[in-house]
Amino acid sequence: MAGIIDSVVRRAVPSLPPLTRSRAAMLPLDAIDYLSRSLSPELKNLPPNRLRLRTGVGNRLLGNSRRWLSSGRRFWEEQHGAGRVKADSSIIDLGCGCGRCAIALKMFGLGGEPFRGRYTGLDVDREMLEWCTHHLASDHFRFGHVPARSTVYNPSQAAVDSGRRLFDADSDSADFLFAISVFSHLVEEDFRTHLAECRRVLRGGATLLLTTFCMEHVVHGLSERWSFRHRMGAAFVESLRYPEAATGYELAWILESARNAGFSDAAVSPSASQTCFVFRAV
Ligand SMILES: C[S@@+](CC[C@H](N)C(=O)[O-])C[C@H]1O[C@@H](n2cnc3c(N)ncnc32)[C@H](O)[C@@H]1O
Repeated sequence: MAGIIDSVVRRAVPSLPPLTRSRAAMLPLDAIDYLSRSLSPELKNLPPNRLRLRTGVGNRLLGNSRRWLSSGRRFWEEQHGAGRVKADSSIIDLGCGCGRCAIALKMFGLGGEPFRGRYTGLDVDREMLEWCTHHLASDHFRFGHVPARSTVYNPSQAAVDSGRRLFDADSDSADFLFAISVFSHLVEEDFRTHLAECRRVLRGGATLLLTTFCMEHVVHGLSERWSFRHRMGAAFVESLRYPEAATGYELAWILESARNAGFSDAAVSPSASQTCFVFRAV
């Protein structure tokens, strides 16, 4: 029953991120969150609750900070364990949000060593980037804006020339690029242009890890979060008003688009929430 109510409410609110732009509306939650974190040395310097909500906290409007931080730490442990990153790697975090993975990398390092490589966080959302730049930028950590329009995350972005580079990063410069829950917010054309930019900035043989909704793995049903009932080209979308709230694609389309962009076939880890793809740049 709770699942059905949650699903009905979430379908009535097609996209939470636009609501988090109102500081006034978010103030009560931000204040409670701030006070509850203020005595913990690990948690007190995290970004405000409204920014964490904007990037998704598994429906936990409050009390999400410890889990948010530990999920970032776990991510790096997994990538280091899989041999994808080292303490001196050059890393790009596409859709870095308000720094979930950057903070964990800065706080906990990689494989017991402090991070001494180059981390670049890229995002379309200027408010989150400003927070990251102000609190996290250093010799090893930098942040850059992606001028792509998104009805959800960057609604005021003007159209950019089709030939313009989207990612503020040099060609053939990165050993590892990851995009967690970012391609799940891209309509068809953006999906392709972002894949092409990923290939441009990665060195040959480097790794791209991305998560996105794969239609064969999404579970449909009345009590499920996603319906993906609309079509926009190759994309299945949740809301025609906010297409970038959530997009899904068929497995064959994702694999073919990645091949066309210059990636070899992927290791695919299916999941009903978001499927994880690990590609190699060829
Ligand atoms: C669901 S959040 C995930 C944030 C972060 N990757 C994490 O796991 O905490 C999606 C992020 O992708 C960003 N984003 C959306 N469209 C983008 C685009 N076209 N290019 C780069 N970032 C984008 C959003 O601003 C937001 O920070």
